[in-house]
Amino acid sequence: MIKIRIPATSANLGAGFDALGLALSFYNYVEMEESDRVEISSADDIAVPTDESNLIYVSAKDLFEVCGKKLEGLKLRQTNNIPMARGLGSSSACIVAGLVGANTLLGNPLTTDDLVDLAAQIEGHPDNTAPALLGGIVTAVFDGRKVHWVKQEVFTKLKFAALIPDFELKTEKARACLPKEVSHKDAVYNLSRAALFSASLLTGKFENLRTAVHDKLHQPYRMELIPNCREVFDIAYTHGAYGVFISGAGPTIMAIADESNEFFEGKMKFSLENAGLTGWQVREFHIDNEGTKLI
Ligand code: HSE
Repeated sequence: MIKIRIPATSANLGAGFDALGLALSFYNYVEMEESDRVEISSADDIAVPTDESNLIYVSAKDLFEVCGKKLEGLKLRQTNNIPMARGLGSSSACIVAGLVGANTLLGNPLTTDDLVDLAAQIEGHPDNTAPALLGGIVTAVFDGRKVHWVKQEVFTKLKFAALIPDFELKTEKARACLPKEVSHKDAVYNLSRAALFSASLLTGKFENLRTAVHDKLHQPYRMELIPNCREVFDIAYTHGAYGVFISGAGPTIMAIADESNEFFEGKMKFSLENAGLTGWQVREFHIDNEGTKLI
């Protein structure tokens, strides 16, 4: 039996739609062993698909197929801390768990690059899967087959406060509301900010983050799907956040704050409640630089 730890991820980081993502110190765990049948269980009270439609199983089977092997079955036991359909990379965590687990069971025939490519092919975009595998902040371009990526480890005194509402938002719905075309001006608006985000985060120029997280490709449309989104952004900025953005496809909102901003979490909880926004959880994390690993 192997045990895998997979981090949650936050994608887009504002303007870097489908290109930027980072891993968080918040983890799912999957225990896996080969079996002659499919046996899937949950180690907590989170319901998971227990048949061959389970995404961890599907991804493991894909890897076996790529390696010319047939997967007869698997015994899987999942611990799901990452909430589903909240913009924190829960489906990427399943894909990556399936691939890393299956690759380990086969004696690691595929390289890290192969795994990054395969994960993006399954998910359709690389900005959650790549940081879930690699850790750190990842800049990725997916050409439809290969991912061209750079992972950078981050050692800043920043914390990432996930403001998690009590409702789900499926990525398909959050992608369906986006425009098919954008203007040249809006494209420039985004690409300049996406570049500014990574450069500023990595060099410690945090005062740029508030400008860098603005975008014209997805957040203005998705805000309409997240009740009280603007109010939550405003509250986070009032308490000194450097930058606030919709995490992945939402509905979680991510606020970046300085480690020295000691009571950020408590102040957020208090102000959200005070504003009548009772369904929001506040959870603080740091960047995970390790990515998925066997434990
Ligand atoms: N880049 C993706 C999106 C992340 O925003 O739709 C969510 O999977």
